[in-house]
Amino acid sequence: MAKAIVVYRSHSGVTRRYGEAITAYLGTRGLDAQVVSVGECDMASLAGTDYLLLGCWTSGLFVVRQHPDEPWLAFVRDMPTLAGPRPKVALFTTYKLRTGSQFPKMRAALAGKTTPPELELQSRDGRLSAADETALDRFLA
Ligand SMILES: Cc1cc2nc3c(=O)[nH]c(=O)nc-3n(C[C@H](O)[C@H](O)[C@H](O)COP(=O)(O)O)c2cc1C
Repeated sequence: MAKAIVVYRSHSGVTRRYGEAITAYLGTRGLDAQVVSVGECDMASLAGTDYLLLGCWTSGLFVVRQHPDEPWLAFVRDMPTLAGPRPKVALFTTYKLRTGSQFPKMRAALAGKTTPPELELQSRDGRLSAADETALDRFLA
């Protein structure tokens, strides 16, 4: 059974709910999927996973300078290098107005640590949309 780990950093709960919704959907697609916060994640488990989905809420000045927060960046700094081809990596975020530079900043922090992320998912309310489900199906294919 293919394995997926969903790791999130959430300030007020929306990104946690999005991570949980993503994890539940992966379970319906036959994966052994687990969700953890950045603080709970066992780094040793990451090397053995087929899919790694990393999420962080969007912080910034709402229209500009969006970025992942320090606990998420610290998690990425502490992560072991995962040389690939597995895990395949996806990013997700929640936001209110614009994700702007959020995904580029997440990618920059991850550069050299994992294979380049192949999917970006974003949500304002933490719910998984039909488009998200289609995108996840393509990511898993
Ligand atoms: C200090 C602060 C800065 C934020 N900056 C942005 C921003 O630059 N762009 C945006 O679209 N949303 C911004 N937001 C909204 C959050 O990204 C949004 O509410 C998100 O869903 C919160 O996720 P969480 O509940 O997982 O913490 C900001 C919220 C806070 C509290």
